[in-house]
Amino acid sequence: MQRANEVTMNEQVQPANGDPLFNPLAPEFIRNPYPHYERLRRLDPMHVNAHGAFVASRHAEASLVLRDKRFGKDYVERTIRRYGPKIMDEPVIRSMSHWMLQQDPPDHTRLRGLVVKAFTARRVEDMRPRIQHVVDETLDRIIPQGRMDLIEDFAFRLPVTIICDMLGIPEEHREAFYTGSRDGGRLLEPVPLSAEEIKQGNAGNAMAAMYFHQLFELRRKQPGDDLTTQLVQAEEDGQKLTNEELTGNIILLFGAGHETTVNLIGNGLLALFRNPDQLALLKANPGLITNAIEEFLRYDSSVQMTGRVALEDIEDLGGKRIPKGESVLCLLGSANHDPAVYPDHPEKLDIQRPNVKPLSFGGGIHFCLGAQLARIEAEIAISTLLRRIPDLRLDDAENPEWRPTFVLRGLKRLPASW
Ligand code: HEM
Repeated sequence: MQRANEVTMNEQVQPANGDPLFNPLAPEFIRNPYPHYERLRRLDPMHVNAHGAFVASRHAEASLVLRDKRFGKDYVERTIRRYGPKIMDEPVIRSMSHWMLQQDPPDHTRLRGLVVKAFTARRVEDMRPRIQHVVDETLDRIIPQGRMDLIEDFAFRLPVTIICDMLGIPEEHREAFYTGSRDGGRLLEPVPLSAEEIKQGNAGNAMAAMYFHQLFELRRKQPGDDLTTQLVQAEEDGQKLTNEELTGNIILLFGAGHETTVNLIGNGLLALFRNPDQLALLKANPGLITNAIEEFLRYDSSVQMTGRVALEDIEDLGGKRIPKGESVLCLLGSANHDPAVYPDHPEKLDIQRPNVKPLSFGGGIHFCLGAQLARIEAEIAISTLLRRIPDLRLDDAENPEWRPTFVLRGLKRLPASW
């Protein structure tokens, strides 16, 4: 019989591209990161990765870092430290440096304050009829075909349409957004970027910036009841928002507002169809959908990681000293499977699981602005799909094709028929 420490030793010396414990872009990791997380939590819960960042895989440390003021984003400093000062000349990196997501207070507080009202629970509840209409219209078109790709034909349409509504993008301009790039997530990956990735990021950013400048002109002349008009007016005020902040944050809202939700719908559907007992339970009890969405977020989060920088020396975080300026990667997907918080089979999908509070939307001052919107979109999309196509089947639930990214976890396609 093998002794426990032998198992541990074998696991520690597994050959895998330099870092045996944390190699998030390896194909087997992308296919299923959860056994890798389990090993990290057990063997080295504050692992130092190949780039010198601390990898927080337990819920305790990951959630503390998100909420603790001793940690921040420090985006420009951190990026320069890692890639050298010339990186700030890259338009896509400069644009990202203005995202509220990358700011610390007081700039973060100012930028978030300009848009937060559009995302209150009340405002989002009021969008239910419009969300239901978009889902029904999509299904009316697809149902006669007998088959579809649940990602491109179904999950993608809803969040992109709703964020276009919120930003006041005219109907006649939307087709370009519907067919546009969904590859921005690569720029958030915790690995060095290649020159090619930066080039692609710059091209995508330039196109988006060019379009949004036209939209700003339109909304200056014809103000609407939308976020772009609000932000253009704040920019005109001069005190509240610079021109670069305006463009950067509109691009952030557009990107953050759809890819993540597409993946919540896609990952949630895959989880359900791989667990037929849970699918049957939900079909028999549609009222379970609200808890089911929380469980989908926990079970296979569409955002797997976010990072912070220590703004001062931290003497003890999970037994490690974090010097000022060092990064901590918070593994949200791993925290969501930590048995310390979910003692009852965290690796199982259980849509009736009590007290599910996933870290998937982050925590602290950057807690996801669109969390309630994403929940309602996914709730309406998944429950309407199951009701209107009761005999829906996935063509291949066992070997789906994942997008080759780690921070944003989602499927390339999910073919289904009925
Ligand atoms: C922030 C996840 C949907 C807009 C975040 C963060 C996470 C997250 C983890 C915090 C990152 C950090 O702390 O570094 C998700 C997930 C979604 C989703 C899992 C869907 C399932 C949305 C939607 C919108 C949105 C629909 C907008 C329409 C934002 C914005 C921020 C943010 C603007 C930055 C907030 C800030 O810095 O204060 N999101 N998000 N997200 N999210 Fe989401």
